[in-house]
Parts: sequence; structure tokens; C-alpha cells
Amino acid sequence: MVVANQKGGVGKTTTTVNLAASLALHGARVLVIDLDPQGNASTALGIDHHAEVPSIYDVLVDSRPLSEVVQPVMDVEGLFCAPATIDLAGAEIELVSLVARESRLQRAIQAYEQPLDYILIDCPPSLGLLTVNAMVAGAEVLIPIQCEYYALEGLGQLLRNVDLVRGHLNPALHVSTILLTMYDGRTRLASQVADEVRTHFAEEVLRTSIPRSVRISEAPSYGQTVLTYDPGSSGALSYLEAAREIALRGAAVHYDPQHAHGGHAPVGHQNNQRSMSEGIQ
Ligand SMILES: Nc1ncnc2c1ncn2[C@@H]1O[C@H](COP(=O)(O)OP(=O)(O)O)[C@@H](O)[C@H]1O
Ligand SMILES: [Mg+2]
Repeated sequence: MVVANQKGGVGKTTTTVNLAASLALHGARVLVIDLDPQGNASTALGIDHHAEVPSIYDVLVDSRPLSEVVQPVMDVEGLFCAPATIDLAGAEIELVSLVARESRLQRAIQAYEQPLDYILIDCPPSLGLLTVNAMVAGAEVLIPIQCEYYALEGLGQLLRNVDLVRGHLNPALHVSTILLTMYDGRTRLASQVADEVRTHFAEEVLRTSIPRSVRISEAPSYGQTVLTYDPGSSGALSYLEAAREIALRGAAVHYDPQHAHGGHAPVGHQNNQRSMSEGIQ
């Protein structure tokens, strides 16, 4: 799952680490790939990422196996992280001259043999080669949208990029999920933005939105997700609920009657492949 939005500060990193921790706490094995040179996801997961640490840069640029850079996250069983170091800032340019520059992450993931249920990729705030690598490697895109003015600005460009990658490099790619972040129900603007997003993307928007919460923003400075920092907080509970929606949806989308053992077929969201960039500027 590719967590992307070329706007900065909309909650990509916060969503990546907290959803990943929520899924792991539900018993899944989850890998977070930090693809932002800032390394905020690595910090939030308490993973050392100073310049000498083996990182996703080595994987992308020097073809180092992913297994050599992945580290377990303390405190959350089943959660792993491939950290980003500041070297990654140069990768955007270094990748240009390499063979198969768009599919280096995809190859690394395909060669990774540890069993995993989910991989979440935290993208940088741009649509350059790092984000393209994530989109070529991924199956689904999750777009966090901050409930504020200008929320939909730039979304058209993001959706067109997804369409381009689907058309040329990864036919499976689709926007499966939109998550409303930093939602403040007391303001009229937030509810107007939420309504507008839900009108455009009825299928994709999760029912759960993430409230603005001080606990969520404090957690990274302790190298923790909000799930371990304050498990009972509204932020932790909302990420757990969002993860539950995603997991149930995934079960519905991947439902295979041949392998079912009785019971009811899950009713759920089936993603259609219409071009989502229609209608949004
Ligand atoms: N639900 C929330 N409530 C309060 N602060 C939040 C919330 N989500 C994110 N933040 C804060 O907003 C800032 C930007 O979030 P971040 O996840 O880093 O965005 P991005 O990765 O898209 O740049 C960070 O300081 C983060 O702690
Ligand atoms: Mg970020």
C-alpha cells in the first residue's frame, strides 16, 4: 500500500506508522518502507537512521537486498521498518541514470522472502522517481487528505500520475483508500471538506476519519506510535478502527470462494478501475 500525496504535512507519515502498528497489533506482519529522505517514519518507529545505517537508499541505488536493511520495531511484535537516511535525498537524481530506474523497489520487494501480510510505503512530498518506484511496487494507493482549505488542490495531478503508472508500468495499481486526517468536527470548514471528498470518492473514503489529537503529534518525539504511546487516546482508537476497515475491505476484495471454508461471503467494497482523475482538477 502506497501512502502518497505530494502535499507535505497532510498526515502521510503519521498514517503510515500508526496504521502499520494497528495492523501489527491485530496480529498481521507488517513492513514499513520509509521512502522519504527526512526519515520521519523511521524516527516515529524508533529506528536508528543516521547516515551509516543500511537503508532503503542502499536497496534502491546499490541493489542491496531489502533483508539486509529491515529492522524490527521495538514494542510492536510483527512490525518491521526499512529506514531512510539523508542519502536518499540524492537518490532522486542518482536513479535517473540507472537501469530499470522505476522498478528498483518492486524488484527488491519481490526478492524479499520473509512472510508479510502488509507493506506500507511512506512517500516523500513529491511525485518524482521515489514516488514512482513506490507506485510501481505497490498494488493500492492510500491518499491521506487533511480537512482544510485547498485539500483537493493538487489531487488531480496525483490521480493522473496514478493513471499514468497504471497505464505504462503497473496495471494493478489503483487508489483504494482515502483517509481524512486532522479532522476537527467543530469547524464548519472541516465538515465541508469532508463532505466534498466523500461526494467525489464515495467508495474510497474510509468511514473512520482521524481527529486532530495532541497525542498523535507527541508520539514521534518518543520514537513511538500513538498505539503504544497512549493506547486509549482518541487518535489511537481511530487508527485502530481505520486499520480494521482496511483489513475487512482487503478480505472482501481478495475473497476467493475456492478457498473459503463455509460461512458467508464477505460483502464489501470492490474497486472499479474507472479513471479517478475524471472530474477533479
Ligand atoms: N491527527 C493528527 N492530529 C494532530 N497532529 C497531527 C495529526 N496527524 C499528523 N499530525 C502532525 O502534523 C504534522 C504533519 O504530519 P505528517 O504525518 O508528518 O505529514 P506528511 O508525512 O504528509 O508530511 C506532524 O507534525 C504530525 O505530528
Ligand atoms: Mg512525511
